[in-house]
Amino acid sequence: MKTLIKKAVWLAAAMVILMTALPVQAQKDDDSLYRDLGGLEVLTKVVDDTLALALADVRIKDTFKDTDMKRLAKLITEQFCELSGGPCKYSGDPMKEVHQGLALNNMQFNALVEDLQAAMDKANIPSRTQNKLLALLAPMQRTVVSK
Ligand code: HEM
Repeated sequence: MKTLIKKAVWLAAAMVILMTALPVQAQKDDDSLYRDLGGLEVLTKVVDDTLALALADVRIKDTFKDTDMKRLAKLITEQFCELSGGPCKYSGDPMKEVHQGLALNNMQFNALVEDLQAAMDKANIPSRTQNKLLALLAPMQRTVVSK
């Protein structure tokens, strides 16, 4: 009887592990958002346009005065590609480390998001798809904003 209970416990534990691991794997293999966004070509254009808008945006342009914008564009493109399920690997530094010295506030965060939305509009990305990318970025607000 005891061994039967033991077996049942092991089986239950194995099922819990499988049930939690499978959706994560499925998410990893799901590149539908990456494809809906238009793949690397469109993402590269969207990030370039976002950063051009940010550099012209009086609310945030000063933040980028000491930044290598080419490197930044490459890293954000990589990050968006990976986040949306594409075949890239983000090679930059951790978000907290990078942004904490910048003392960013929520207004600045929202300004950059608005610039990103404008760039996605320009690329004719449907709002449903835009919102999916924005939903992946939203949790980073707490990491990026420190003021
Ligand atoms: C979800 C929102 C954000 C994401 C995903 C993001 C992403 C990134 C990435 C990938 C990098 C490069 C990391 C590296 O250098 O290794 C970076 C750097 C930077 N970000 Fe953000 N960022 C966000 C929000 C913001 C906001 C709101 C601002 C300012 C308005 C900002 C300003 C900067 C600046 C100035 C750098 C370059 C710092 C340097 O030159 O060392 N970021 N960001």
